[in-house]
Amino acid sequence: MIDAKPLDVADGIRRRRMHRIFTDRPVPHEVLGRMAWAAARAQQARSGVRHVVVADDPALLATARQVLPGFLNNAPAMLVLCTDLDEAGASGGPRLAEHVSRLDSGAACAHLALMAQTLGLGVCTVTSWADEAVRALLGLPGHIRPDVTVAVGYVTRETASPAARGFASGLHHNAFGAAFADGGR
Ligand SMILES: Cc1cc2nc3c(=O)[nH]c(=O)nc-3n(C[C@H](O)[C@H](O)[C@H](O)COP(=O)(O)O)c2cc1C
Repeated sequence: MIDAKPLDVADGIRRRRMHRIFTDRPVPHEVLGRMAWAAARAQQARSGVRHVVVADDPALLATARQVLPGFLNNAPAMLVLCTDLDEAGASGGPRLAEHVSRLDSGAACAHLALMAQTLGLGVCTVTSWADEAVRALLGLPGHIRPDVTVAVGYVTRETASPAARGFASGLHHNAFGAAFADGGR
C-alpha cells in the first residue's frame, strides 16, 4: 500500500524544489514504480522514444556519485531518462532525435517533481556529467542517449524558495520587452 497524498497542482508548482540532502530511508520498489509511471506518462512527440532506467542499487549509486560530477547529493535512488536515437530518428527525423526528445525528457522531470511531493519524496535534476559516464554506469547501448539523471529520495527539510534564491524568469506581453504584469500566483 503506497502512502500518497493528494496535491493541489498550483501548490505543487509553488513548493517544487531541487533537493540535495536526503534521508537514509530506502525508497520502496513500488514507490519507485509510481515515479517511473509519472515519468513515462509525460508528453512525448513519438511513441517508443523514451526509456527510463530506475536505479536503487547502493553500489551503483555510490559509483554514480564518483563518476557523475554534478550528482552532488546522497539520494538512495535515481531515475535516468533516456532517448532511443534510432527510434526517434526513424519516427521523427534528426530534429526529433537531437532536440525535441529533450523537451520530452524535461516534461518528465516536471512530472517527477510534482509526483515526488505526493509520495513524500524530493528530487534533483542532474545533467552535469558526460554521456559516456552514464552509458558505462548503466550499460546503455550506443543508440540510447541519457538525457537526465533525477536523484530521488525521502526529504525532511524544504530548501528556500527559488525566488528567495534569486531564480527568476522573464515574463513578456505580446512582444519581448513589454512586461506581463500578472504572472504571480
Ligand atoms: C536541466 C537542469 C540541470 C541541472 N543539473 C544539475 C546538476 O548537474 N547538479 C545539481 O546538483 N543540480 C542541477 N540542477 C538543479 C539546479 O541547480 C536547480 O534547479 C537550481 O538550483 C534551482 O533550484 P530549484 O529548481 O529548486 O528552484 C539542474 C536543474 C536543471 C533544471
